[in-house]
Amino acid sequence: MMTLQINGPSHTVDAPAEMPLLWVLRDILGRAGTKYGCGIGACGTCTVHLNGAPVRACQVTVGLGPVFVL
Ligand code: FES
Repeated sequence: MMTLQINGPSHTVDAPAEMPLLWVLRDILGRAGTKYGCGIGACGTCTVHLNGAPVRACQVTVGLGPVFVL
């Protein structure tokens, strides 16, 4: 279990630690606004802000920390 804070509210999710943030957002939380493009960190279409910095959500796994701020 991990907690993600997305645009304010917190969400507790049960996902494998190695799951990319992109799929947690889209498949578990239904946040389809985060788009899938290349899946290899090249195109930037999945970019989200993580603790104030832009990251490629397809390249960040949710196991890196207990709380994400997007
Ligand atoms: S899907 Fe292309 S950089 Fe993430």
